[in-house]
Amino acid sequence: MNEAGFLKASKEERLSISADRESTRKVVSSSPEETESLGERLAQKLSPGAIVALLGELGAGKTCFVRGVCRGLKVKERITSPSFIIINHYRGTLPVYHIDLYRLKGPQEFLFLGCEEYLFGEGVTLIEWAEKAEPYLPPETLSVSMRIIDETKRELSFSREPW
Ligand SMILES: Nc1ncnc2c1ncn2[C@@H]1O[C@H](COP(=O)(O)OP(=O)(O)O)[C@@H](O)[C@H]1O
Ligand SMILES: [Mg+2]
Repeated sequence: MNEAGFLKASKEERLSISADRESTRKVVSSSPEETESLGERLAQKLSPGAIVALLGELGAGKTCFVRGVCRGLKVKERITSPSFIIINHYRGTLPVYHIDLYRLKGPQEFLFLGCEEYLFGEGVTLIEWAEKAEPYLPPETLSVSMRIIDETKRELSFSREPW
């Protein structure tokens, strides 16, 4: 969907990522390395304009997964959490926009900061705390919900078959 199509789409269409959560593909990761490898594997399937929404509490492994995606896209920079500056831009085989909405007060702020521009670019957009921008995410967004099972195990639920 292009930007004009997105703006015209009904609210129901845009909200479909939450409905998607019911029919998901689940994977259990037993270590940070495994989570990173899952991200790296997903990277092979991402094309320009792909949007990956990462959901889940603090420490769930969202940044760890992003690190793996970036490794898969041959990003050389060190991946840190962009919690304070909201967006980090990296360059790999594709441009990568790493957005962290932890500090966002509400969904309107997402538009105010111009974040939606990244959703229609040629890069891969990875959004931590994507729940905070859910009304603005297009239906083709791949959502990855991460749940802490115990100290080393995380359950990852993908909104559709990721590979
Ligand atoms: N299976 C796992 N997958 C990802 N992280 C894990 C796992 N087991 C333990 N951890 C730890 O959980 C923390 C995840 O941190 P981080 O990726 O920054 O989470 P988030 O970005 O969701 O807040 C790290 O300290 C990591 O070492
Ligand atoms: Mg993080």
